[in-house]
Amino acid sequence: MKVSDVKVFGVIGAGQMGAGIAQVAAANGYKVLLLDVSREVVEKAKGKIGAILQKQVDKGKMTAEARQSLLDNIQPTDDIKSFEAADIAVEAATENTEIKLKLFRAADEALRPGAILASNTSSISITKLAASTRRPEQVIGMHFMNPVPLMKLIEIVRGLQTGDETYETVKALSEKLGKVVITSNDEPGFIVNRMLIPFLNEACFALQEGLGSIEDIDTGAKLGLNHPMGPLELADLVGLDTLLFIADVLHKEFGDDKYRAATLLRNMVSAGWLGRKTGAGFYLYEGRDKTPNPRVH
Ligand code: CAA
Repeated sequence: MKVSDVKVFGVIGAGQMGAGIAQVAAANGYKVLLLDVSREVVEKAKGKIGAILQKQVDKGKMTAEARQSLLDNIQPTDDIKSFEAADIAVEAATENTEIKLKLFRAADEALRPGAILASNTSSISITKLAASTRRPEQVIGMHFMNPVPLMKLIEIVRGLQTGDETYETVKALSEKLGKVVITSNDEPGFIVNRMLIPFLNEACFALQEGLGSIEDIDTGAKLGLNHPMGPLELADLVGLDTLLFIADVLHKEFGDDKYRAATLLRNMVSAGWLGRKTGAGFYLYEGRDKTPNPRVH
């Protein structure tokens, strides 16, 4: 498939990553089939996109027509069979191998021969996902960064089986979405999370050892390293369950204890404090305000 043949995206998962991918594809004129377990879930995600864009309209940064046409490009669905109309499907479901394999097989069934099947996974082997399909040459990693509409990067991951044409098409497509591309081999964590996860995990160790407070650690990175967010704030944005899952993948796959997850992180996930999405993580979230979580130390 050539990049000029791509007209319709199928996006699996209407969570923060899937909704962001749908928004970016729709903003660039692509039709998007946004899939989740129910149309209600997808309509809710679409409503959130609409609300964010309304702010841009109110500030005069976007026209009401452009907002409406972007939203019109996103069609909610709960039936993966509708992906027979898609030229590329991007899977952005929960970071869980069994769930991803199941969705990959279903998407492979639904897509027509030659269509591309990409995963937004941040740590699961693309080679393994590809091997579960009948189209391993058309399977590739397309790792968007969170928040998708604001972050410039897409990390493309080539599985062992990924064909050259698939790679070239996805690279050109990513550039058409306005993103800068880096290419990674298929190793745990790829490039970005190989660097990021040990950093965030180390911040959890620093907190659990009492090296400094939540704010000391985050301010250290923000003002001492010029990072836009501190590691604990960023962990809350990424989701502590996702962070723990990737840390466990790095630990298991490399067999190196330097990747072991901090107990504090594991406990917070057990407590259901997953960060922004649950309203509690290293910080407590109340609307746009956040305060350090006093129970976390
Ligand atoms: N669509 C369009 N516009 C949006 C938007 C969206 N979804 N969300 C926010 N905006 C707009 C805002 O309304 C705002 O508009 P104005 O300038 O008109 O006010 C503008 O974008 C900027 O928003 P913010 O004020 O919230 O932005 P900020 O300057 O505070 O930056 C940030 C926010 C980009 C998130 C910045 O803090 C940052 O870069 N943080 C680090 C993020 C990061 O590292 N992400 C990578 C995570 S790792 C990952 O994703 C990989 C993995 O697998 C774990």
